[in-house]
Amino acid sequence: MHVGVLTGGGDCPGLNAVIRAAVRTGERRHGMRFTGFRRGWRGVLEGETVALDGRATGGILHRGGTILGSSRTNPFSRQGGPEGVRDALAANGLDALIAIGGEDTLGVANRLHGELGLPVIGVPKTIDNDLSGTDYTFGFWTAVQIAVDAIDRLHTTAESHDRVLVVEVMGRHAGWIALESGLAGGADAILIPEVPASVARVAAHVQARADRGLGFSIIVVSEGVELAATGSDGPVDEFGHSLLAKRGVGEALAERLSEATGRECRAVVLGHVQRGGTPIAYDRTLATRFGQHAAEMVAAGRWGRMAALRGAEVVDVPLAEAVGTLKTVPASAYSEAEVLFG
Ligand code: F6P
Repeated sequence: MHVGVLTGGGDCPGLNAVIRAAVRTGERRHGMRFTGFRRGWRGVLEGETVALDGRATGGILHRGGTILGSSRTNPFSRQGGPEGVRDALAANGLDALIAIGGEDTLGVANRLHGELGLPVIGVPKTIDNDLSGTDYTFGFWTAVQIAVDAIDRLHTTAESHDRVLVVEVMGRHAGWIALESGLAGGADAILIPEVPASVARVAAHVQARADRGLGFSIIVVSEGVELAATGSDGPVDEFGHSLLAKRGVGEALAERLSEATGRECRAVVLGHVQRGGTPIAYDRTLATRFGQHAAEMVAAGRWGRMAALRGAEVVDVPLAEAVGTLKTVPASAYSEAEVLFG
């Protein structure tokens, strides 16, 4: 079998581990051949391919980013795009396509399978951990670890200066990174998109700490949290996501807390640092298991499905299940965390 591979959407630590494991497993166990598409769906539509074999995938297990490159190209937003994907598979003599991506990339994969019957399978990727159908996506715990390392460092400087530091982490629609990094980093309050933000409540925690002689606080906020006047109607990508929206919720919150408490409040935006660099061991292992499972799914012709982690097992689920609804933080998980605030 000849198998195409692409990585789409925001990059994520562990992508290379998936590619390596899929290629090695496919080649060694099933005699498959692989071709990579550069920059996600864009490479498929524009005919940008690279050979993927044992040699090309050597030495990449620990490397962040993706050797294939990525983009946010959406074939369904382009005239003739879906048919272009079908034609590209035929032109390259491909029997299958492995799409490694988040809700957007896998949403396209799902439609290509459902509407055009293409032999596509998916591997879930996002540092946001907001894909349904899988307990975790690789890259998530690396992003959390990076945020926790930052929070630990910010703690000592906040304490030395009696400052309130607002740490803005990624997560447009789901607050998983904020929740887990805030818990592990001992944040004094965590704000996530799933729970309406109350500046007054955060200010009360800050003030209560100050009354106890603790002049510093660490507040973790997801970039997607809505505070009045932090939205923006800037340009959007091909999936309709704003390229600029919500940048600045950390700054806005710091300003509002400063007004409410009279204390010095500063914002630190972690941004793409959370997506860069080497994956932690857990993510390398999970990504490797997903890559191996992807090769097995291709061998078994399990089209329209996605590799997924359920408990300790790697299984596969329909792509439609994964992209139907976002996996957001349940209210119960947030209220458990809330007990520890302040
Ligand atoms: O989807 C993953 C993610 O990292 C989000 O948390 C973040 O909002 C977005 O990508 C940013 O993507 P970019 O700046 O690369 O467009």
